[in-house]
Amino acid sequence: MTQSDILVLGSTGKTGRRVVEALRARGATVRPAGRSAEVRFDWNDDRTWEPALTGVRAAYLVDRQDQPGAWDAAAEIAALAKLAADSGVRRLVLLQARTTGLVGGKDLGAGERGVRDSGAEWTVLRPNWFCQNFDEGVLLDSVRAGELRLPAGDGREPFVDVADVAEVAATALLEDGHQGRVYDLSGARALTLAEAAEEISRASGRTVRYVPVAHDDYVAELVSYDVPADYAAFVADLVGQIRENLHSTPTDTVERVLGRPPRDFTDFVREAAASGVWNT
Ligand SMILES: NC(=O)c1ccc[n+]([C@@H]2O[C@H](COP(=O)([O-])OP(=O)(O)OC[C@H]3O[C@@H](n4cnc5c(N)ncnc54)[C@H](OP(=O)(O)O)[C@@H]3O)[C@@H](O)[C@H]2O)c1
Repeated sequence: MTQSDILVLGSTGKTGRRVVEALRARGATVRPAGRSAEVRFDWNDDRTWEPALTGVRAAYLVDRQDQPGAWDAAAEIAALAKLAADSGVRRLVLLQARTTGLVGGKDLGAGERGVRDSGAEWTVLRPNWFCQNFDEGVLLDSVRAGELRLPAGDGREPFVDVADVAEVAATALLEDGHQGRVYDLSGARALTLAEAAEEISRASGRTVRYVPVAHDDYVAELVSYDVPADYAAFVADLVGQIRENLHSTPTDTVERVLGRPPRDFTDFVREAAASGVWNT
């Protein structure tokens, strides 16, 4: 371990894995952390926090707000951020989401205050829905089954590629000029779910249909698959933000930070199809 280590939470996840790669590609020394990573870090076990933080100069923070179960994000993130600053961590980059208000009763920006007030330099990332939900995340099984049943109406979402989120995170961790900033991160084009499904169908050679469903029917459907009712409501509310076009306007933040346009949805789809992930 050296003083130049950068701690990456959620290092086995969609963004964290790529943040590790992006940092290493730029020559940084990285400490990948998580419950099943090289360095053990568990939000539920604060004895793992200090060892993970000791000796690092910057940290990428991923919360667990999007998982089932109650969790006091505001308190936990504030405690971790304070411990980090007290341990000499100079810079924190926090992943949140481009959401508004309460989602299924949760404030997905709950961790921001703790990071801002920690005393460390901070950057907050608020991305739109990830492209990789379709090939690594919550929508993969639906794509494989050929039917995306969601309460998204004909709302539009400028899906962002997690590779761009990771590059922005690495830039904010390593370079000056991004501190005290909140970055809304989107792709360049807002697509309806029907358009996304069409692109996936075209590239994969398989028919994937988008079927709009009503909010309450969607919740009932998830509950019938044994999803806890509060989590079903959370996911339905999250998708409802697409239906209501709450964050459908693309931002130019990726281009401003990285000096190049965001990765296009079509390129994401082409690569995912070529990987065979959607073949069943
Ligand atoms: N999906 C989207 O479209 C989207 C859009 C905007 C924002 N976000 C935000 O992105 C975040 C999730 O990031 P992601 O997609 O990169 O991760 P992810 O792919 O969902 O993976 C979750 C990561 O968190 C770790 N983790 C889970 N529970 C943990 C615990 N109790 N203690 C420590 N680590 C734990 C997991 O590692 P281990 O299992 O090894 O511990 C894993 O590395 C959430 O805050 C979500 O709100 C998501």
